[in-house]
Amino acid sequence: MTPTTSSERGTWNSKIGFILAAAGSAVGLGNIWGFPTQVADNGGAAFILIYLLCCLIIGFPVMIAELAIGRRTQKNPVGALKALSKGNSFIPLIGYWGVICGVMILSFYVVISGWTLAYVFEELFYFFQFESAANYVGDLGNGLKNAVFTLFFMGLTILIVTGGVSKGIERATKLLMPVLIGILFILIFYIFTLDGAKEGLLMFFKPDFSTIDGNLLLSAMGQAFFSLSLGMGALITYGSYLNKKQNIVESAAYITIFDVGIAVVAGLLVIPAMFVAQAGGVQIFNPETGALFSSVTLVFDVLPEMFHNIGGFVGMLLGITFFILLGLAALTSSISLLEVPVAYVIDEHGVNRKKASWIVGGFVGIISVIVSFELSLIDYFVMIFNEIGLPLGGLAISVFLGYFWKSENALLELEQGNESIRDSGFYTLWVILIKYISPVLIGLVLLTTIWSFLT
Ligand code: PFF
Repeated sequence: MTPTTSSERGTWNSKIGFILAAAGSAVGLGNIWGFPTQVADNGGAAFILIYLLCCLIIGFPVMIAELAIGRRTQKNPVGALKALSKGNSFIPLIGYWGVICGVMILSFYVVISGWTLAYVFEELFYFFQFESAANYVGDLGNGLKNAVFTLFFMGLTILIVTGGVSKGIERATKLLMPVLIGILFILIFYIFTLDGAKEGLLMFFKPDFSTIDGNLLLSAMGQAFFSLSLGMGALITYGSYLNKKQNIVESAAYITIFDVGIAVVAGLLVIPAMFVAQAGGVQIFNPETGALFSSVTLVFDVLPEMFHNIGGFVGMLLGITFFILLGLAALTSSISLLEVPVAYVIDEHGVNRKKASWIVGGFVGIISVIVSFELSLIDYFVMIFNEIGLPLGGLAISVFLGYFWKSENALLELEQGNESIRDSGFYTLWVILIKYISPVLIGLVLLTTIWSFLT
């Protein structure tokens, strides 16, 4: 085993490059597919409020913690926690858990990302009236077709990760993020000219607090971790490529605001779009139970219908742009999911980047083919690795930082690039959040979940 030196690992080229790359990791299917679906599934505005609270008082402090650990050690999550473990053999397990979550989340993430590509073709075929081709690519239950698109997407992800930090990841996200935001706004302006959109707005802004229960809390917390790319060391890894001049707290604030902002904006598109589709005759909610017909496929069931109803060249153009947008957002996230296990293999096993990317990517590819054929696995993976796994990782990182590495040591790292932080009230607040509030809240929600499983 020959661990790599930090000079071989690469660093971000610019401040904005890092923020865009980390924001690119955060903004993805979680915002555009996950968040609106969860909002619709959990009664609307009440879920949004709890979600925002989770991002602010748990996610944001944990993000600072991950970035500090990463930059301090300049290592992947396993190496980072090993370096700070003072010989304790349990601490690095947090990093191994992150690597496992990365592999497993990526294995279904690329299947859903594959659907976004398939629907670009679906919109095209529909427009040119190649009906059977459109039905073929739009059939989410077709395992073979799913596998082909999934592997294509996985290949793209591997190629970018092979390019390394600044040439691959930074360059790709710098280009893709601004395009994404622009397209999202164009679609929102369009959707509000259509019938039914206002009803969607109502769901977004009128809270029904009776929907808040243990399940909703777990979903909101899992969604916050997933959307902010926290709990599995993705931001430890991205932090490890960060130079010492960068202000971690400020960067974390930008990334959080950006991610939450895009989720809300995506919600403002997708939720009204659901109601527009409903006004056009598509069934979204089960009239008897009031629940969604399908969460995993909702965006793909409902939105193409809407684009078809709009019809003609405009409908096709909107459809294609939307799915390209979703695919691009997914790509900048899937590269960060793959980067975690790849950085682990590079750092800890001395394998070069290209080989590591293809080996790990190939392994994930195999699992993702199984998921392509057996979509019911997605629900299980979401439950185990997103909703429980990521908050569990966040809990472990908070406890590790607060009680093992100690906040005074983290402070030394945070001071680099932010000299005045020591005397600021923010530092005291952060310590309280990371040492007490975040572990207690995450612990309570996880215990409630385990309790409800057992009873
Ligand atoms: N944040 C990504 C999204 O919202 O789609 C998904 C993700 C990326 C989760 C990286 C976790 C992670 F480490």
